[in-house]
Amino acid sequence: MEMLETSTQTDQIDSEITGDHGVKPDESGSNATRVQLCNHTTGKIYADQLHTRQTKAGITAKTPSTAKPSIKNSACLASVMRPPIPGYLTAETGKRSKEEILAQATDFLQQYYESIKQYDTEEHNTRLHEVCDSICLTGTYELTSDELVFGAKTAWRNAPRCIGRIQWNNLEVFDCRHVTSAKQMFEAICKYLEYATNGGNIRSAITIFRQRVHGKGDFRVWNSQLIRYAGYLQPDGSVIGDPANVEFTQICEELGWSGEGGRFDVLPMLLQADGRKPEWFEIPPELILEVDIAHPKYDWFASLGLKWYGVPCVSDMQIDVGGIQFTATPFNGWYMGTEVGARNFGDTNRYNMLETVAKHMGLDTSSSLTLWKDLALIETNIAVLYSYKEAKVTIIDHHAAAESFMQHMDKEQRLRGGCPADWVWIVPPVSGSLCPVYHQEMLSYQMKPAFLYQVAAWKTQSDKKRKRLTTVKVVATAIRYLTRIMMKILANRSTLTILYATETGKSERFAHRIGDVFKTGFNVKVTCMEDYNTADLLNESFLLVVTSTFGNGEAPTNGEMFARDIKRLVKEKKTANQSNSNDLCSLSLNIRCIVLLFRYSVFGLGSTAYPEHFCKFAGTVDTMLNEVGGKRLTDVYKGDELGGQEEAFQEWARDVFKTACDIFPIHRGVNRKAILTMLGSDTSKMHKSYRIKPVTRQKEPDPLVQLGKIHKKKVFPCKMKDRKQLQSATSSRSTILITLDTQGRKDLSYQPGDHVAVFPTNDKELVHKIVSRLELEYTPDTVLQLEMQTDGQQVWTKVKRMPPCTIQEAFTRYLDITSPPTPDAMRMLAAYTASSDEREQIMLLGKGQSDYKTWINTCHPNIGDVLISFPSIRVPGWFLLDHLPLLKPRRYSISSCPKVNPNEIHITVAVVKYWTTASMESYHKGVCSTWLEELDIGAVVPAYIKPAPSFYLPSDIKKPVILIGNGTGIAPFRSFWQRRELEATCSNPPKFGKMTLVFGCRHPDIDDIYAEERSGAEKSGALLKVMKAYSRLHGKPKKYVQDVIKENPKLIFKHIYEEQGHVYVCGNNLMAADVRKTLVQILGSKGKMTSQEAQDYITNMRESGRYHEDLFGVVNRLSEPKSNTNRGATSTASSLWFMMKELQFWMLYASR
Ligand SMILES: Cc1cc2nc3c(=O)[nH]c(=O)nc-3n(C[C@H](O)[C@H](O)[C@H](O)COP(=O)(O)OP(=O)(O)OC[C@H]3O[C@@H](n4cnc5c(N)ncnc54)[C@H](O)[C@@H]3O)c2cc1C
Ligand SMILES: NC(=O)c1ccc[n+]([C@@H]2O[C@H](COP(=O)([O-])OP(=O)(O)OC[C@H]3O[C@@H](n4cnc5c(N)ncnc54)[C@H](OP(=O)(O)O)[C@@H]3O)[C@@H](O)[C@H]2O)c1
Ligand SMILES: Cc1cc2nc3c(=O)[nH]c(=O)nc-3n(C[C@H](O)[C@H](O)[C@H](O)COP(=O)(O)O)c2cc1C
Repeated sequence: MEMLETSTQTDQIDSEITGDHGVKPDESGSNATRVQLCNHTTGKIYADQLHTRQTKAGITAKTPSTAKPSIKNSACLASVMRPPIPGYLTAETGKRSKEEILAQATDFLQQYYESIKQYDTEEHNTRLHEVCDSICLTGTYELTSDELVFGAKTAWRNAPRCIGRIQWNNLEVFDCRHVTSAKQMFEAICKYLEYATNGGNIRSAITIFRQRVHGKGDFRVWNSQLIRYAGYLQPDGSVIGDPANVEFTQICEELGWSGEGGRFDVLPMLLQADGRKPEWFEIPPELILEVDIAHPKYDWFASLGLKWYGVPCVSDMQIDVGGIQFTATPFNGWYMGTEVGARNFGDTNRYNMLETVAKHMGLDTSSSLTLWKDLALIETNIAVLYSYKEAKVTIIDHHAAAESFMQHMDKEQRLRGGCPADWVWIVPPVSGSLCPVYHQEMLSYQMKPAFLYQVAAWKTQSDKKRKRLTTVKVVATAIRYLTRIMMKILANRSTLTILYATETGKSERFAHRIGDVFKTGFNVKVTCMEDYNTADLLNESFLLVVTSTFGNGEAPTNGEMFARDIKRLVKEKKTANQSNSNDLCSLSLNIRCIVLLFRYSVFGLGSTAYPEHFCKFAGTVDTMLNEVGGKRLTDVYKGDELGGQEEAFQEWARDVFKTACDIFPIHRGVNRKAILTMLGSDTSKMHKSYRIKPVTRQKEPDPLVQLGKIHKKKVFPCKMKDRKQLQSATSSRSTILITLDTQGRKDLSYQPGDHVAVFPTNDKELVHKIVSRLELEYTPDTVLQLEMQTDGQQVWTKVKRMPPCTIQEAFTRYLDITSPPTPDAMRMLAAYTASSDEREQIMLLGKGQSDYKTWINTCHPNIGDVLISFPSIRVPGWFLLDHLPLLKPRRYSISSCPKVNPNEIHITVAVVKYWTTASMESYHKGVCSTWLEELDIGAVVPAYIKPAPSFYLPSDIKKPVILIGNGTGIAPFRSFWQRRELEATCSNPPKFGKMTLVFGCRHPDIDDIYAEERSGAEKSGALLKVMKAYSRLHGKPKKYVQDVIKENPKLIFKHIYEEQGHVYVCGNNLMAADVRKTLVQILGSKGKMTSQEAQDYITNMRESGRYHEDLFGVVNRLSEPKSNTNRGATSTASSLWFMMKELQFWMLYASR
């Protein structure tokens, strides 16, 4: 049951918008009072004075006996969030006199001893004397544990606004009055949360910290509820997350916390002990039980991405027991569904989801007569109840809650002769008159012990602290009002949605850059494809797409779902066209939406290192958007990361803007010329200033949590368990089999075919080299927050890509310091280069033309190399913090079968170490593979599983399977044969189709990895046959896997054509492309197909899930270590050779 949540939620908004309100003296100076009445949706306030002139006939019973103001007997205050009568629902703030405490203590002890049937016994009288003495001597007293438990339970029993009080006697009380510090508070609350959560079977509980002591500061939990979602105020006034928590989020940020910027980021706990400055604590994720919201009938509901937490734990109220005030008392019941469905998701000043839901339901939202809001509200509430039930998290529906309250009231009438109840609050926000409580008259009054609202903790801080925090509030309020005005202006503009999909972050940056410029003329929304609902195309008029290409011409991971959805829409539309359905209403919602035209344009990022698939996914999106009904504004523009990407982007942006201006109504005040000039320049550094601010951190952050936040993934700790060299002792290279211990974590379970993503850290030496070259205002171990200001605006906003961290941490864990700088980055660096010669050279490279390409291909320079090569660069710390890409996790194809190796993940890693052909620092090491090669056994490896269902073994196990891989490309196949071996040796082995492996390496004595295991698998029958291709046998021509395939056309044709088998290819892209070509040739010759037919056949195999590829990317082949002495070290001879190369390189540049 929900305990008072509604009141505290709205109460927070109350304080945000209106500040303190309630009874205020009349401005005329008379004794009349005015009551401020707040509209919590609009923020508008009415100040009622008329009540002072009323006739005295209408007396309400809603008053405590102690309340003084005249209003007490003259107006109903039920809907006022905090009635302006201290002691009545709202806590008193002043010091209590001894007499007052004694009176309340006496009354309380009477209640207590009556409850244990010891009223007026010796025990009762002794205790009364003891308490009396203590109050006289010290001004206060302490409750016994039993009294405290009784007091807390009775406070709940007396809470007039709570519908779930039937449970009052089952409240578990955690007596934490011994706690003295914020850290101990945190630990106590964690234990309490774990108890209350109880794996979803929620238990009502309360934790009580030290009571108020005169002359000492209070204990307070600053959060309104322990678990709440952050609300991030955006420069345009909109809020990402929960608008109810904007002020609190800003306070957390002021104190050094930094969230991910998402819709459902759990805020930290802000805990104050003894009136000291609050300390913040991240709630351990395992204590946050959340429920993803889906609908029993509407599949699309899940795609709205809604979720809510399981335990509603109000944490800013006070309990007043026997004259003693407990100011920190987090407590919980469980949710009544409407609190989440109607209030949290439905309220317009909260997540405001009703219109979105209604549109998905296909409701007519043009008129309130259709009751679309009501229908959407009910379905949202159904979804909430259904999801909590499915997740086995306790929840109650409003009908059942109302019924239980009626029973409670009935029982209380019998036991106590009454039950204080506030009708306004008890009647649920949905279907009021359907619930029995609606028809029940109630009387609201205050009994003690009581739960009472308190003034927000930050308002009670000392003047200096308060001033700072109030400023946050004032600014927030001002922005909110300005926002409303701005929103009206913005509403008249055209809306532009910019979608991006990215694997390494570049497309996202480009998307934001174009968004920044278009903001002047359009309402801009920049969204990742994975967060976009394709049904929203219905609402689009102008769409821009920025996307890279991965795999083999495929979507980056966060574009996969979008690609699938659009593909489905195209198919649906084609089917609809075939059935000649011109009637809009007969089409599904999805199709209807795309019959309405929208304008769009696509920019692709890619690399000509993938000539066959250069920016292919961008092309695919462009075609599909056109097929679903979109109208192209421009052709697809493609930016090659090997050169000219920036120029291509600028050209595209200008072209799109010019065309868009002709089509869309652009605001008259917009200076088109200025925008075009802006688009013709480097928009990445446009308009922005940066600063670094030192901040304090409560505790050393957990790097896994931080990585998770940065990469928006849940990251888990594996342990390095074992490492084994797979290449022979004579090999100059290193391929290692790594065993990771998952320590039984369910989140790290996987299937053969899946990948594991590993987060490495950078090489210490390289970090040192870079950090020592930075212009730093602070020492590298100062915790810093990067902030950004857009020109013309006063506000500094936090750059959220990284949490506050030290420069050392940023360069070690979070930033990619080894990828060669892009042409854009070079141009930006030129601005920080003192020497004009060097600047000229850098600008030349920044053009991204042939000089840049040669430089990248021959030197593969990292940022450290650049700083060394151009010694006059003076780069400020913030520059690299914001401009270096993030250090990405590396994926590895898992080489083990989990059933054979429980709690283990095996990976086969080729250790990347190479010499560049002309180099400044010459010897390069792959970040992750080298880190894994050098990491101590037992060390933590941050990781997560990336499922790859398209690479699983066929569900029809009888189908023949051909596995093709070279070098480390054998990795996933080991998991396949391990699984088949296990199944083959069980008592009743299934009948598998044949599994043939084609494997390529250099030489049988050097890198024929897993040779023994493979022959074991052959013997067991798991592998029917292994066909090998050796590329470096002395005196023999090079043989690759595709050559072996070519030599066996009959067998291959039989497998893939006649027996409809599956093909799995793993390794680098070039090999994969050659394999495909070879198979096309075989299909052509054996199946008598034209080249096109054979290619279509492979395409069909892929689409029907018979052709599977697991590709590692393009292999750049520069020099590798010459001998095994080079495993991990550089030789003097090689160094000399490279010094000569370096000299040549610089002579080349000097001659320009
Ligand atoms: C889906 C998928 C699955 C994968 N599975 C595996 C696997 O099972 N086993 C495995 O070992 N790897 C696998 N990889 C590759 C792996 O993710 C890493 O890319 C690899 O380990 C290199 O990472 P690194 O951090 O050590 O090197 P990085 O620091 O990322 O350096 C690699 C970069 O160095 C450059 N480079 C590499 N060699 C040379 C050279 N000789 N000359 C010049 N430049 C060079 C290239 O630009 C290359 O991109 C997989 C990749 C993908 C996408
Ligand atoms: N494994 C290591 O110790 C090591 C060390 C340093 C760097 N690396 C890098 O790691 C990546 C993968 O290494 P790896 O060990 O998995 O593979 P690899 O040893 O580089 O290659 C495996 C086999 O595939 C062959 N091959 C090369 N190009 C091919 C193509 N287009 N089609 C078909 N076969 C082809 C190779 O022949 P040829 O090589 O004879 O042409 C070799 O026989 C590469 O980037 C490599 O540069 C690996
Ligand atoms: C494993 C891998 C596969 C790739 N495949 C392609 C491809 O098929 N076509 C292409 O044009 N670029 C390909 N690329 C290059 C990326 O698209 C390019 O690096 C792009 O700039 C990345 O942009 P992003 O940061 O937005 O993801 C590939 C890169 C990698 C690492």
